Amino acid sequence: MLTSDWWRSAAIYQVYVRSFADGDGDGTGDLAGVRSRLPYLAELGIDALWFNPWYPSPMADGGYDVADYRAVDPAFGTLAEAEKLIAEARVLGIRTIIDIVPNHVSDRHPWFRAALAAGPGSPERELFHFRPGRGAGGELPPNDWPSQFAGVTWTRVADGQWYLHLFTPEQPDLNWAHPAVRQEHEDVLRFWFERGAAGVRIDSAALLAKDPALPDVVEGGDAPHPYIDRDELHDIYRSWRGVADAYDGVLIGEIWLPDTERFARYLRPDELHTAFNFDFLACPWDAARLRASIDGTLAAHAPVGAPATWVLANHDVTRTVTRYGRADTGFDFATKAHGTPTDLALGARRARAAALLTLALPGSVYLYQGEELGLPEVEDIPADRLQDPMYFRSGGTDPGRDGCRVPLPWSGSEPPYGFGGAGTWLPQPAGWGGLTAQAQAADPDSMLGLYRTALRVRRTEAGLGDGPLRWLDAGDGVLAFAREGGFGCVLNISPHPVALPRHRRILLASGPLDEGLLPQDTAVWLRLDE
Ligand code: NOJ
Repeated sequence: MLTSDWWRSAAIYQVYVRSFADGDGDGTGDLAGVRSRLPYLAELGIDALWFNPWYPSPMADGGYDVADYRAVDPAFGTLAEAEKLIAEARVLGIRTIIDIVPNHVSDRHPWFRAALAAGPGSPERELFHFRPGRGAGGELPPNDWPSQFAGVTWTRVADGQWYLHLFTPEQPDLNWAHPAVRQEHEDVLRFWFERGAAGVRIDSAALLAKDPALPDVVEGGDAPHPYIDRDELHDIYRSWRGVADAYDGVLIGEIWLPDTERFARYLRPDELHTAFNFDFLACPWDAARLRASIDGTLAAHAPVGAPATWVLANHDVTRTVTRYGRADTGFDFATKAHGTPTDLALGARRARAAALLTLALPGSVYLYQGEELGLPEVEDIPADRLQDPMYFRSGGTDPGRDGCRVPLPWSGSEPPYGFGGAGTWLPQPAGWGGLTAQAQAADPDSMLGLYRTALRVRRTEAGLGDGPLRWLDAGDGVLAFAREGGFGCVLNISPHPVALPRHRRILLASGPLDEGLLPQDTAVWLRLDE
């Protein structure tokens, strides 16, 4: 693998800084905490870290409301500390991916403060989408765009104009038709590449460009959507690619698009390097559906020559162990099945098998902090402790995303489980003593043990990561494939134990075999006998 091609095969660990480790004991995770846990991350065997936004932010949306893209929030540390962290991780062979939020800024960002102060018609307002309202007195929002979180997408300011925010009112959308907006973000990219970032995760990457007329959404028909996946975006990302290439940097898009052909356009050789595979993330625990998602993913990526990514979880979705323990094992923002009956033992068993499947597929893989510990979704956070605007803006009908953002348990038998100071920003549940990193570290059969071994094997197997996949004959409910070098992966989701293909040895199994047969919800890595 060429050094500069690391991203084609990498195992990338997502750090939600606020909840990873707390170095100064105030109950909120920080960069000092991450630095203190770098040995843990190195031992886990990952190639890169992706940090959720660490910039100064009023935290109206967990840091996705950025007030200054060139600094670090004091709650997390300092810019100098971020630079140290990037350098220290690199010494351990771990690259750093930062999170850039180009669609919107915080309402505390100096540009937005200036726009509010400058008033209608000013050049400052042109950096955003300010419009008069509809209705006789301008008392209605300028259009009908639905919010990505519940509620309206427009807020009226004192002088009567409205501004657009696809997310919360604290996240005004930037006007990407304005050259200063493009210039600024390219400068921000350079700023972080200069400081050692190896890659950039692009938030809401398909939402930046807007139809300048801001028309209502017309469902169906062939007209381009007024704000999703507009063709103008490709020019923006081609320009970003030019910046990234100068630093050998990597661009990763957060792109939720059902149309895989449109999705793949972002991955043309002169645009983004990779994008998150949300089709796979949302896929139910069903062999035929998983196979279709894998085949569809590989087929969509092949024409543009980009490697696929495999993601089971992140800071926005229900934790894997919980999701796979429910009757509905898929993920959909609209129907989160929060609080429905959940068999966590079953979910954990499937999550283990899913880990081996995912780590054996062609391309790069993302692991969300706590997944390696098998943490479940926390579904009983008291309402007065919840923080997520998704919960508040939906009037509580959407449980929000706090349940997957609870601070990690490191050691001990009660909160704060070695996270740092007591009084963690989100409460940790009782009963996580057995899930701490310390409790699992000594046990090779724990979830942590499985991930450590799997990541080690993945590094040493030349056929894993980017490269071809060949499906093997297997019965209904079974996925079996070979990778180069005689590597095989078999996953049985059917209710019956199945025989393994001819093999020389078993490299790793997600659970015990049953007299040489592979039981339900179990996956195995093999050295095939071919
Ligand atoms: C996607 C991020 O992953 C999510 O956490 C955030 O709320 C939205 N984009 C808005 O920035």
